Order: sequence, then C-alpha cells, then structure tokens
Amino acid sequence: MQLQGQSVLVTGAANGIGRAIALGMARAGADVAASDLDKANVSTLKAEIETMGRKCIAIEADAGDVAAIDAMVSQTVDVFGKIDVIVNNAGVTRRAQIMDLTEDDFDRMNRVNTKGVFFCMQRAAKEMIKQGGGRIINIASIAGKGFAGSSNVIYAGTKGAVIAMTRLGSVQLGPHNITVNAVCPGVTETAIYDAIMASDAEKQGVPEAEVRAKALEKIPLRRSNTPGDIADMCVFLASDAARNVSGQSLHVDGALVPD
Ligand SMILES: NC(=O)c1ccc[n+]([C@@H]2O[C@H](COP(=O)([O-])OP(=O)(O)OC[C@H]3O[C@@H](n4cnc5c(N)ncnc54)[C@H](O)[C@@H]3O)[C@@H](O)[C@H]2O)c1
Repeated sequence: MQLQGQSVLVTGAANGIGRAIALGMARAGADVAASDLDKANVSTLKAEIETMGRKCIAIEADAGDVAAIDAMVSQTVDVFGKIDVIVNNAGVTRRAQIMDLTEDDFDRMNRVNTKGVFFCMQRAAKEMIKQGGGRIINIASIAGKGFAGSSNVIYAGTKGAVIAMTRLGSVQLGPHNITVNAVCPGVTETAIYDAIMASDAEKQGVPEAEVRAKALEKIPLRRSNTPGDIADMCVFLASDAARNVSGQSLHVDGALVPD
C-alpha cells in the first residue's frame, strides 16, 4: 500500500498500458481518475477499481484538447481534493515509412503525444505547486531514443520531445517539490503493438507469428513487456522510494536500446 490515500490521474487509461497503470496504482492504494476517449472501457475500469475498495472517477476526455485537459484536472481536484500524481500515457501512432507520412499524421501525433503531454504537465503542475508538491510521469518510448524498429519518424520525434520536456520540466518544477520523469517502454503487448505486427506481416508477406518471433530475437532478455511491467515502474516513480529521482527517462525494454 505504498500509495495509500494518493490521488492519481491517468490519461489513456481505458486500454493497454494506461489500463495496467490505473490498476497498478489502485492496487498500491491510490484513488484513480481514469481518463480516455473510450467511454465504454473506462467505465469498465472504474467498476474494476471500485471492487478493489478504491475510489475511481471515469472521465471522458480528449488528451489532445487543452480545454478538456483543464476540465479533467479540475474534476480530479474537485472530487479527490488534490492531485498527487499524473501519468501522461495517452499516445497515438501508426506504422509507416518516412516517405508515406502526411501532414495529417504529423498533426494527429503531435496533438496528443506532444501538445497533450505538455498541457497535462502544466495544468497538473499548477495544482501541485499550490499543494506543495507532486509527481509527473510521462510515458515516452524507446522510439524517442532512436530505436530503429519504431513505428515511424514523426512518432519518434514526439517521444523525443516528451523526453526533452521531462528533463527541462524537472529542472523548473523541482523547486516546487515536483518530480518529473519519463518511462520509455520497449516492445509492449498492446493494441498499438498488435497493429504494428499485423502491418509488418502483411507488408513482408509472412505469418505474423514469424514477425513477432524476429522482434523478440532482437531483445537481449528475449522478453517483450506486459503492460504490467510499465505499471510497476510507474508505481515506483509515484512512491516515496523515488523521492529523489527526477528528470530521468527510464527504459523498460529488456536492454533493447542503450540509454
Ligand atoms: N505498446 C508499445 O509497444 C509501446 C511502446 C512504447 C511506448 N508506448 C506508449 O505507451 C502509451 C500507451 O500505449 P498503448 O500501447 O497502451 O496504446 P493503446 O492504443 O493500447 O492504448 C492507448 C489508449 O489511449 C487512448 N487515447 C488515444 N488517443 C487519445 C486521446 N486523444 N485522448 C484520450 N485518450 C486517448 C485510447 O483510447 C487507448 O485507450 C502511448 O503513449 C504509447 O506511445 C507503447
């Protein structure tokens, strides 16, 4: 119960990594504000968290929209009385080579992955400064550290931006007792990854199982992440054990990409 009594807001909480983070935070004792565009799955998550004896609010919100971000942080503070931790997890991508990427791709990915993360950080920090401290956790990616197998170049740029914003954010928010860290997942078994594997198999004209096996061969630990692997790192960063860890971009990738 490392996070007993804490108030945690997670974006993109309805599925995949965000869902695992929300459940991991609740398991560690926190109350959770779970936000996503996917109203149905975020409601299911709320019910699951409540059966664990924790409070949960399900918020239907677009993490790329500044007004929606303001409202989601306000709702968290109104209901729980504070926001101790925000996990900026919502993110979008698609598998594409550099010459196939469009302006729409650029705007769509940057709107959620870059602009959304910045304004979530800023809006949550406004409350945390008033409270006297807090934890900001940004879900970046090893794509932002140049992983050659990344879904696309624009996505890699958005995640590189998250890593840089994490670093400078930690410097400017540190005096307010706010830690800012990024987690860089490697290969993680979720819908995003399934779509990438399916797309690669189709392009290469080989069975998807073969593409998946080849991807695993490149990982020194020969293991992909479960979403729970990322959740465990987030719970650590939210906990008192990580009180003096800030400005870091921590890989959870089985040693796939050197830092
Ligand atoms: N899966 C991987 O291999 C992997 C690797 C590195 C980094 N990541 C990052 O982890 C994060 C989560 O990825 P995932 O694999 O769980 O993806 P996912 O597609 O399984 O889930 C993403 C969730 O975000 C929500 N979402 C998308 N756009 C949104 C928006 N505008 N507003 C609110 N919610 C929105 C979706 O509805 C969904 O519930 C992303 O930031 C992703 O870039 C994933």
